[in-house]
Amino acid sequence: MKDVIIACDFGSPAEALAFLDKFSGCSSKPFVKIGMELYYSAGPSIVREIKARGHRIFLDLKLHDIPNTVRKTMKVLSALDVDMTNVHAAGTVDMMKAALEGLTREDGTRPLLIAVTQLTSTSEERMRSELLIDCDMQGTIAKYAENAKIAGLDGVVCSPLEAGMIKERCGSEFIAVTPGIRFADSAADDQVRITTPARAREIGSDFIVVGRPITAAADPVAAYERCVKEFLED
Ligand code: C5P
Repeated sequence: MKDVIIACDFGSPAEALAFLDKFSGCSSKPFVKIGMELYYSAGPSIVREIKARGHRIFLDLKLHDIPNTVRKTMKVLSALDVDMTNVHAAGTVDMMKAALEGLTREDGTRPLLIAVTQLTSTSEERMRSELLIDCDMQGTIAKYAENAKIAGLDGVVCSPLEAGMIKERCGSEFIAVTPGIRFADSAADDQVRITTPARAREIGSDFIVVGRPITAAADPVAAYERCVKEFLED
């Protein structure tokens, strides 16, 4: 079930669809991530449109609210027929359980549900001084991942460098979805803790989320195929 997910970080549906048009000749349509920017600008119709084109979808809305609100919102999202969605583990085990309940359809099927542990933009120093979490980053991430597992979730979003540790703590079946991927010869942009597709596979990522190395490439289809080759085949 390993795969490359393209982060479709575009501000308008027209840009996103023009980008996906480039993949119309591909034998299998890439798995795509729709984030807050695109979802809030275009609404559920962009999800339906991209799904109708044959793509699998990770709807990255990172829900974090009281359990009742998250349960009802997940029920709405599950009707959109996405393949993966997520919540913040900081919402507690009860909130994650409620998310899972809301997402599960009457026939028992549901999209994969993963949790964000600590955002990679949060430094350990700020986590301690602003969030008042008196634990190191690794320990916090491990605990949040264990909470997600206790709640019955399928896995977490984490740095590829943390995937091995998460698997050790939560089991090999627990999914690691990892952004922060760069080719050995591409720019880091604003990402700090990065690694290559091949190294991410070695450490244990199940899904790599790749944005700019594909979306900003001169030939996005070639960049996607290179990513798939490095992550899945080499
Ligand atoms: O362009 P780039 O490959 O850096 O895009 C990575 C994608 O993964 C973006 O959509 C970004 O918001 C997302 N992401 C991340 N780090 C996290 C969680 C999500 O980079 N911890």
